[in-house]
Amino acid sequence: MKKKLANLLSENIPNLDKQTIYDLIEVPLNTSMGDYAFPCFKLAKELKKSPKIIAKELAEKIEKVNFIEKIECVNAYVNFFVDKEILLKHMLIPILKQGEKFGMDKSKSKGNIVIDFSSPNIAKPFHIGHLRSTVIGKSLYRIFEASGYDCISINHLGDWGTQFGKLIVAYKKYSSKEEIEQKGIQELLRIYVLFHEEAEKNPELEQQARDYFTKMEQGDEETLELWRWFKKISLKEFEDVYNLLDVQFDSFNGEAFYNDKMAPVIQELEDKNLIKVSDGAKIVELEDMPPCLITKRDGSTLYATRDITAAEYRKETYNFEKCIYVTALQQNLHFKQLFEVIKKMGYEWYKDLVHVPFGMVSIESEDKDKPAQAIATRKGNVILLQDLLTQAIQKTKEIIEEKNPTLEDKDKVAMQVGIGAIIFDDMYNTIIKDVEFSWTKVLNFDGETGPYVQYTHARACSVLRKSKLAKHCIRLVNFSFITDEASINLAKQLGNFKSILSDAANKYEPSIIARYAVNVAQAFNKFYHDVPILVDDYDVKYSRLTLVCCTIDILKNALYLLGISAPTQM
Ligand code: ARG
Repeated sequence: MKKKLANLLSENIPNLDKQTIYDLIEVPLNTSMGDYAFPCFKLAKELKKSPKIIAKELAEKIEKVNFIEKIECVNAYVNFFVDKEILLKHMLIPILKQGEKFGMDKSKSKGNIVIDFSSPNIAKPFHIGHLRSTVIGKSLYRIFEASGYDCISINHLGDWGTQFGKLIVAYKKYSSKEEIEQKGIQELLRIYVLFHEEAEKNPELEQQARDYFTKMEQGDEETLELWRWFKKISLKEFEDVYNLLDVQFDSFNGEAFYNDKMAPVIQELEDKNLIKVSDGAKIVELEDMPPCLITKRDGSTLYATRDITAAEYRKETYNFEKCIYVTALQQNLHFKQLFEVIKKMGYEWYKDLVHVPFGMVSIESEDKDKPAQAIATRKGNVILLQDLLTQAIQKTKEIIEEKNPTLEDKDKVAMQVGIGAIIFDDMYNTIIKDVEFSWTKVLNFDGETGPYVQYTHARACSVLRKSKLAKHCIRLVNFSFITDEASINLAKQLGNFKSILSDAANKYEPSIIARYAVNVAQAFNKFYHDVPILVDDYDVKYSRLTLVCCTIDILKNALYLLGISAPTQM
């Protein structure tokens, strides 16, 4: 429908291309403003006329075709009122036909997309900050998969670097084999924090740490043995979290994987005359930003060296259409430098490298007068992700016990809802924004939350159950039975799914899906409240159940794209 409208508009607007017109078309929340609206602000600049006048002229010029009932102009907008029956058919028939597959293009025909996400650092705990990268990355994976790409998920583990030197010093000084085996990552965190406290008093420790790391880089077996052991312990705990979140990776090639692959890349940089030596260090100079450090004075490589190598390796291995990196905003400069170096190397595909940055997570302080605490591993100020998830499940279980104690499969539902709540909260706002985590907000079943959307989906399922009809039996009899505002509004929301999906993919923004899911849920709940569904009249009942079925599929798919399950009972 939106496409048809864009075609119609573009016949009358020669100076904008069809895609731009399509993207500009809005769906007004208030139906008195029409079913679709076209804002004329953008044209004002080009035509050097007021947007109001342009809207008026446009409204007069556009020919009324069969599917349009009325065209109105209000201020700078041209509002279109579409024939309701045609609108409903357009919106609902494809969903009814394809059911759960609607909007999910699994053809993989558009090529490969590499998504580098989660990527925690070994021997440091997996904290709530890593949660964001993990859930955003997983959601982008599903969004691009549903858009027709073949996605490859890569966990670029931080398993190399000076922190291992620190850990080895700390291990030898403050811990033991038994303690680490018993307490795992908690113990590694304890001694890591202790190291930083002690090093403030005694800077000599930092030098010892650097020496150990140099040994690792030179292939010293004793230190490498410890490194492998720390890595194994960390990975085991990360796996527990990934299992809880139901995240899988196609590759765990982290930083250490590139150790033996960097020399040829550094040579390549030399051959292309990009390396300058400054104070013994090798750097690549860049315009408008600090140089990218390739090797330090002592010859050791850096995070950036490994990322340049990884980018080339990925291009060769996966021939990606895009390579996406999901990390905190703080790494902006790093990725700018990385992409610029790739460009200077003469690789046109530098354009296909995309950094998707997100804001910080802080935890609402229990004490209202104190500011929210930020996440800082070094000081040990962390809520471990695993604890957080377990708590979410536990708290949800308590709510279920109170509200619906006879629910089947309580434990499973508590897990799906508790974890869904956290994931949803993380992506409800534009991801660049900081998140302040608060239990009351996250688990609110009436707010704009994951549980609210899941609950609405379960409510729609329960209406269908009560009808005693199987989903595949519901085929719309006659669209003319749907006439009320709440139903039409719901249908319009449902029909918006594909355009929302492409918007989310184009902007690398899962929050667009989350907001949409809330809109659909709100539209359904209004419909549920205003319109009796299981009435005696056969045609009316069937047409309303059509809306119920489509809502089930759309909400389920939207939740799926966010990485959240959709229980049928709550
Ligand atoms: N390990 C890094 C961190 O926790 C994130 C790595 C992101 N990926 C990359 N290719 N640099 O900050």
